[in-house]
Amino acid sequence: MGSQVLSRRDFLRVAGLGSTALMFGNRLKLFDLQSSKGTQTRLFAPDAEISITATDKRMQILQGVQTRVYSYEGQLVSGSGVTVQSIPDSYLGPILRVKRGTKLRILFHNKLIENSVIHPHGLQVPEDCDGHPMQAIGPGKTKVYEFEMIDRAGPYWFHPHPHMRTSEQVMMGLAGLMYVWDAEEETAVPGASTGANDVPVVIQDRSFDQNNQILYQPNMMWGFLGDRILVNGKTNTTLSLEPRAYRLRILNGSNARTYKLAWSNNLPLDVIGTDGGLLSQVVSKSYVMLMPGERVDVWMDFATLAGKQIILRSLAFQAGGMGMMGGMGGRGMMGGMGGVPNGAAFDILTVNVGQNATVKPVLGRLPALSAHYDAVNVPDFNSPRPFVLSMQHMMNWTINGRVFEMEAVAADEKVNRDEIIAWEWINNSPIPHPMHIHNVHFQILQRTASALAGYDTIRQGLVDSGWKDTVSVWPGERVRIAMKFGPHTGMYMYHCHILEHEDMTMMRNLMVMDPTMPGM
Ligand code: C2O
Ligand code: CU
Ligand code: CU
Repeated sequence: MGSQVLSRRDFLRVAGLGSTALMFGNRLKLFDLQSSKGTQTRLFAPDAEISITATDKRMQILQGVQTRVYSYEGQLVSGSGVTVQSIPDSYLGPILRVKRGTKLRILFHNKLIENSVIHPHGLQVPEDCDGHPMQAIGPGKTKVYEFEMIDRAGPYWFHPHPHMRTSEQVMMGLAGLMYVWDAEEETAVPGASTGANDVPVVIQDRSFDQNNQILYQPNMMWGFLGDRILVNGKTNTTLSLEPRAYRLRILNGSNARTYKLAWSNNLPLDVIGTDGGLLSQVVSKSYVMLMPGERVDVWMDFATLAGKQIILRSLAFQAGGMGMMGGMGGRGMMGGMGGVPNGAAFDILTVNVGQNATVKPVLGRLPALSAHYDAVNVPDFNSPRPFVLSMQHMMNWTINGRVFEMEAVAADEKVNRDEIIAWEWINNSPIPHPMHIHNVHFQILQRTASALAGYDTIRQGLVDSGWKDTVSVWPGERVRIAMKFGPHTGMYMYHCHILEHEDMTMMRNLMVMDPTMPGM
C-alpha cells in the first residue's frame, strides 16, 4: 500500500502493467494518416528552426562523483523570432524564448537508448506535434515538429511523454522552458521579450544514492517524493539579486510533490501570471500552492531588502492521505514515505540581496483577459461533464472509472471545436491531483470546498483567476472549469500531472472534433 517503496519493476507489476509497452512503432503510420486530414497544411515555411537533442550524459550535481542524467540540448539552427538559452551547469533543457506568431520547426533528435517524444506543455499545436505516446520515436531517430506559436504570452514548458516512461525520463532530467512573449506582455512587464528581469525557478525534488546517482523509488500512492530540493537543477540554490524588482517564473517541475510557497519574512507573493500567462490584476497571497505542472509568475521587489537575505520556502500543510479519509490509521496526514513527505516544510531558494540596483523596472498595467467565462456565456455552466477521480482496488488510479488505453476515446471524451464547454473534476480519492488538459487553456469557474480536515491548510493559496492548463483538485473537492478547443482538431490527452499516476493509468485520450465535418 501507501507505505511501500518499490523498485521500478515491482511498481509496474503491482500497477498491473506488463512490459508490453513501447510496441507502437507500426501505429505511427496510421496516426500520421489520420492527422493529415486535420487542420495542418504541409506547406510550412518556418521563421525559425531549432534542434533539441535528448542525450544521456554525466553532470556535476553533487560534490564528488558525477551523476548520470538525461538532458535536452537545444540549438537555434536558423531564423529569427526565437532565442535558445541554455541554463549553465544544469541538466535542464534550454529556455526557448519565442515571439508569439513565430512559425517554428523543431527537430527532436532522440539520442537516448529508449523511445521518447517531446510534448509542448500548455501549447495549442497540431495533433502530430502534441507528443502523444503513439508519436514516440526510437533511439537514433528524429521527429519534426512544425507549428505556429499561436498561444498567448506565457510560461510554457516541454517534457517527454512516451508510454509509461514519462515519470522516469523527467526524473532523469528531461524538461525545458518555453517562454512565449508578445507586445501586450512587454507593455505590462518590462523586459518580457528578452527576459531581462526574469528569474526562472524550476523546482524539483530528487534522491541520490551513495554514488551520487539518481535514486528513483516511486511510491504507489503519492508518486515519487525525494529528499533533496533542486532549483534549476542544483541543490542548495542561492541567488545574488539586486535590490529591485524581478519576475520570478516558478514552475513545479517535480514528478509528484506539491509546494506551499512563501517568503521567510512573511512578505506576500504578488502573483502576476499563471499557466496561461498574465492575470488581469495582481493577486497578493501570503502563500501559494503549486502542484506538479503548474506555474506562477511572481513580481517581487527586493528594494527594501538591500543587504539582507530572504528565503523562498515550502510551508507545512496536510496533503491528504488515508488518514484524511478517516479511520484508516493516523499515519497519512503528511503523506508519503521514503523521501520527505508531501506537506513537510523545507527551504527552496535563498536570495542574497545586494546593495546597488542598476535598473528599476516598474510593473505596468496588466492586460484584461480576452474572455471571461461565467454562468452567462457557458451554456452548460450548471451541468458540467463530470470527471471523477478515484483510486480503485487500492492503487488503481482512474478517471470516471477508466484507465489509460492507447487509442480509446469514450463518448464523454469527445468535444467540439469552437464550443464553450464546462467540465467538473470530482476528487473522490484521498490525495490531491493536478489535472491537466492538452491543447487548451481553461478558466476555473468554481471550487466546491472540501469538508475534509486539512483543507484549511491549503485553501488560501489557490490562484484561480487566470488561464490555466493544470489545476489542483484537492480531496473532497469539486473544481468546475470552462474552455473552448480550437483551432486544432484531433486526438489529444488529459491526465493527472503526478507523473507516476499518469504513467500508471490516470490518463485518457481526448478527441477534438470538427463539427462541420461529416463522419467525425
Ligand atoms: Cu505536461 Cu501531458 O503533460
Ligand atoms: Cu501538457
Ligand atoms: Cu493523480
